[in-house]
Amino acid sequence: MKRHNFSAGPCVLPREVMEKSAQAVLDYDNGLSLIEISHRSKAFVDIMEQARSLALELLGLEGKGYKALFLQGGASTQFLMVALNMLEKRAGYLNTGTWSSKAIKEAKIFDDIYEVASSENAGFNYIPKGYDIPENYDYFHCTSNNTIFGTQMKAFPNSPIPMVCDMSSDIFSRTLDFTKFDIIYAGAQKNMGPAGTTLVIVKEDVLGKVSRKIPSMMDYKIHIGKGSMFNTPPVFAVYTSMLTLQWLKNKGGIAAIEKENEKKAQLMYSEIDLNPLFKGYATKEDRSFMNATFTLENENLKDTFDTMWKEAGINGLNGHRSVGGYRASMYNALSLDSVKVLVEIMSELERKA
Ligand SMILES: Cc1ncc(COP(=O)(O)O)c(C=O)c1O
Repeated sequence: MKRHNFSAGPCVLPREVMEKSAQAVLDYDNGLSLIEISHRSKAFVDIMEQARSLALELLGLEGKGYKALFLQGGASTQFLMVALNMLEKRAGYLNTGTWSSKAIKEAKIFDDIYEVASSENAGFNYIPKGYDIPENYDYFHCTSNNTIFGTQMKAFPNSPIPMVCDMSSDIFSRTLDFTKFDIIYAGAQKNMGPAGTTLVIVKEDVLGKVSRKIPSMMDYKIHIGKGSMFNTPPVFAVYTSMLTLQWLKNKGGIAAIEKENEKKAQLMYSEIDLNPLFKGYATKEDRSFMNATFTLENENLKDTFDTMWKEAGINGLNGHRSVGGYRASMYNALSLDSVKVLVEIMSELERKA
């Protein structure tokens, strides 16, 4: 049965990428597996270098003072690492959901963080706008896409201070002026590859301004100095991410995938809006093109709907436990056909009900 994977992450990856990475586990270099060769071998150093330069190239950041790193510890470690490397006196955070709140919690270990704005008052179903970012702070932190609540920042402030962004769930999905950001981080396991590595993009000139001693593994400068090989990198996750970035480049890059993502999101949201059985969770203007969150108006239809989508081969549609309802995650590798299958089931439910 063909499966349609709407999982929020880890999630769907391009089939051709998985075939290549599976083959590399069996035989990458003359009978040796990718996961049994030294990370210092030319074969792997080339992979790491390609992955790093592809990431910058796709984001339009090559030659602009940025470095790309493939680190470990997930985006959750970046919550702490950003603060360790950047926070001297005070930082401003935009609180748009669970992940922003977790980033704030980690930074609070060092300072009494200032929330420039929050959408907690409405269950994080919108993105706050029109807030001020204090000029004398060290940095401003935001989350571009809120995976759990299904909201997405459509515009970013012109920050007077370095801007740090958690782009875990929408990196490489839409065109943006990425030069507005000084640090971007994203766990690989949505639009890039398997869990196990985190892409961190750092504008080098924002580093070196804090007075604290930074433990080596937490220090961006040390990772940059060692070419993202300070310690043994997660070779399989980096290789698979590199293949996904190549796949994206061959498809025409971010601008090309953005068009596909828009089509998928439009189809999904028009069904949510037109079908009286469903209700969208996020405010319309802030709806995420990656994660569409919605609920059933009549909970009595839950069992029927759940049976229908499961029988159609759909996977991962349940909403996050903190929100309930449903969440259709439509990352780069999810096809428009998969969205058509889901939308067809939603209309069939309407016909049946
Ligand atoms: C926006 C966002 N930030 C951070 C995280 C945490 O990532 P990790 O599990 O890689 O630490 C997630 C996980 O889904 C996420 O969606």
